[in-house]
Amino acid sequence: MRILFVASELFPYVKTGGLGDVMAALPRALRALGADVRMLVPAYPAIRQAVPVGKEVAAFPDLLGGGPARILLAEAPGLPLYLLDQPAFFDRPGGPYDYPPDLARRFAALSWAAAHLGRAGDANGWRPEVLHGHDWPTGLMPAYVAYGGGPRPATVMTIHNIAFQGRFPAAMLDELWIPRHGFTPEGVEFHGDICFLKAGLRLADRITTVSPTYAQEIQHAGGHGLEGLLAHRKDSLRGILNGVDQDIWNPRTDPHLVSRYDLKHPARRVPNRPVFQRQMGLQEDPSAPLFATVSRLDPLKGLDLVLDNVDHLVSGGAQLAVLGTGDPHAEGAFRQAAQRHPGRVGVFLRYDEGMAHRAFAAADVFMAPSRQEPCGLTQLYALAYGALPLVRRTGGLADTVIGVSPETLANDSATGFQFDTANGWALGEAINQALGLFQDSAAWREVQRRGMTTEFGWKGPAQAYLDLYAAIPAK
Ligand code: ADP
Ligand code: GLC
Repeated sequence: MRILFVASELFPYVKTGGLGDVMAALPRALRALGADVRMLVPAYPAIRQAVPVGKEVAAFPDLLGGGPARILLAEAPGLPLYLLDQPAFFDRPGGPYDYPPDLARRFAALSWAAAHLGRAGDANGWRPEVLHGHDWPTGLMPAYVAYGGGPRPATVMTIHNIAFQGRFPAAMLDELWIPRHGFTPEGVEFHGDICFLKAGLRLADRITTVSPTYAQEIQHAGGHGLEGLLAHRKDSLRGILNGVDQDIWNPRTDPHLVSRYDLKHPARRVPNRPVFQRQMGLQEDPSAPLFATVSRLDPLKGLDLVLDNVDHLVSGGAQLAVLGTGDPHAEGAFRQAAQRHPGRVGVFLRYDEGMAHRAFAAADVFMAPSRQEPCGLTQLYALAYGALPLVRRTGGLADTVIGVSPETLANDSATGFQFDTANGWALGEAINQALGLFQDSAAWREVQRRGMTTEFGWKGPAQAYLDLYAAIPAK
């Protein structure tokens, strides 16, 4: 089966969060199952520098008013890659979502190029049977496919985060090349605006999201305004859990660690701790329970609950390490916490891939207290690296961590800690539970061992996507 993935991020070139990780892993996992998967991404400078660019397979004199554009066929390791080369939109420094003035047009251009490949194929005659778009930047793709007429591929939209929707003023309709008749509730219109994600969710043949629990939540209170549409389309909506890319996130082979380890050699985990503590400005205390988080600092990540618990953690004898960037207010609050508790609270307010790997290898407890979490990859990395996840019971966090309780300890199923209510007190109770278990090192090791043996590979999820593609009736 021929499938074209379309996305705005791709690790290791361009990544702002888990989307980049998933885009690097899932297409390759599908290829390993025999599917002919290719991917279309913008020709960002970071990709052009890293990937040998092949030949031109499509050209447009002008795309969305951004001037001439071409599609180049390149080859990333193990993945054929189409690059949308449109210098006016994509050949710039900065993150993929910077430059707000033409944000709508640049991702409309990506969606248009994808729809073109879907209808006409490339110059070599390769034409996808399925177009699979990810998140709001690709939301117009099913719209361009639907409004373009003629033979068309099946379309699938995956929601990685419904909080980001791509809403733009209705006045942009013409410059986004959307026909007037598309501006209805059955098309791209959403409360008087153009909404990219809504268009995709309305018009795609199938919708997926990244965990079964989140698939339910977004049909109800967690839908950020799109719950009605998703409830209406519930027969076309599926939650498929993300996996872990074991070539990248594997403590046995991880080049970012000073000491690589696995379940057979748990003692080799230990040397990673003082290195990380030093890099975080923490005392090299070998026995203090080390709590860590690695996260975008965004209100939905619930890190204000961690801020509420800084003094609680320190007075309980713990250390806290925070690796994150984002909301300047949260950054300032964490910086102050570190100043208040030198050597006990360490903050690293930058994006640093290596530090993230070292955090998972050093921490005793990894906190993800999200208000909402579509899937969450960090708690999966924590499980694989032997840091016990402490999570709020929501979305993918609920689906992947089994909280410690008398029952789960008795039947050997616990892999971490969970709490329900999104407030500092409830997180504090879960912290107490973790501090309590930490005193019992045999029980702790048992929970840690179970987490490290839990399988979160990509093979099962990839097969679920293949089954979903295969079940879409031919157009
Ligand atoms: P989200 O996509 O919502 O940010 P995920 O848990 O799916 O959440 O993925 C987050 C990804 O971003 C993980 O790979 C995590 O390691 C990484 N990450 C987040 N913040 C940082 C940071 N400051 N430095 C390095 N990596 C980070
Ligand atoms: C989003 C979500 C996160 C998910 C990731 C990859 O960024 O916030 O929960 O793991 O996408 O699907």
